[in-house]
Amino acid sequence: MAPALKALVAQVTGWLVTFGLARSGLLPAGLLAIVLTQALTAAATATALGSAPWWRWIHLGFTPLVIGALQLEIAPGWYLAGFTGLVLVYWSSFRTQVPLFLSSRATAAAVAGLLPRGRPGHLLDLGSGTGALLRPLARLRPDLRLEGVESAPAPYALSRWLSRKSPTIALARGDFFQIPWSDYDLVYAFLSPAPMAQVWEKACAEMRPGALLVSNSFPVPGVEPERVIEVDDPRRTRLYCYIPAGTEWHKGRIGVP
Ligand SMILES: C[S@@+](CC[C@H](N)C(=O)[O-])C[C@H]1O[C@@H](n2cnc3c(N)ncnc32)[C@H](O)[C@@H]1O
Repeated sequence: MAPALKALVAQVTGWLVTFGLARSGLLPAGLLAIVLTQALTAAATATALGSAPWWRWIHLGFTPLVIGALQLEIAPGWYLAGFTGLVLVYWSSFRTQVPLFLSSRATAAAVAGLLPRGRPGHLLDLGSGTGALLRPLARLRPDLRLEGVESAPAPYALSRWLSRKSPTIALARGDFFQIPWSDYDLVYAFLSPAPMAQVWEKACAEMRPGALLVSNSFPVPGVEPERVIEVDDPRRTRLYCYIPAGTEWHKGRIGVP
């Protein structure tokens, strides 16, 4: 079951159990008993469904926070505005399990060193976010053609605006699993552990000989990287570099020292 669906089941179960106990007179009177019973039942259900540990804390806090917020009598339009903003930024994260966070400039510099020199190189950023990788890369390596695909509307719109003066950057809105990866020297991923097996499968099926798959922070499960680059940034970024199966590694071609 997807994590978002488990969360929904946990919350609904919390309310059904609380409602049942209240109807049968087993709950003490008062709002506190209702809120605590719902929160504890939802957290217990999430645990029973095998949700990640942090979901327990989210379920424990959710209904108490909703009830607390209702006491503040904030106009409903603010909730709608907040919800709309989150949807535009995170879009399908509830399904893909890939939120928005940004690559550092030092990471862009490390990636720049992995691309071929002396001929036009071609890079694809899977889920290009606000363009935090592509823009510094375009400045460091104006000889490269840089492409990004992003599904979330707000980061995509921001990336288009911020890179409007970068002629070597091409951005598209969509799902990176729906486009071919066969035309690139390097495919860059900064995603989460959730899609890495699927990313590897597509990379092996489509990437051309000599091309490199670089994953920021999240290794491909069960696959030994060709090398791991430690980036000197505050996050201590690790870049996992892979040769997708069926291709040959040409160290000279990819400019690796
Ligand atoms: C962690 S951010 C990385 C942003 C950027 N690549 C960087 O390094 O700064 C991952 C992005 O991937 C996007 N994303 C996740 N799954 C996607 C998919 N299947 N197709 C397109 N974008 C996706 C998310 O919306 C999010 O903005």
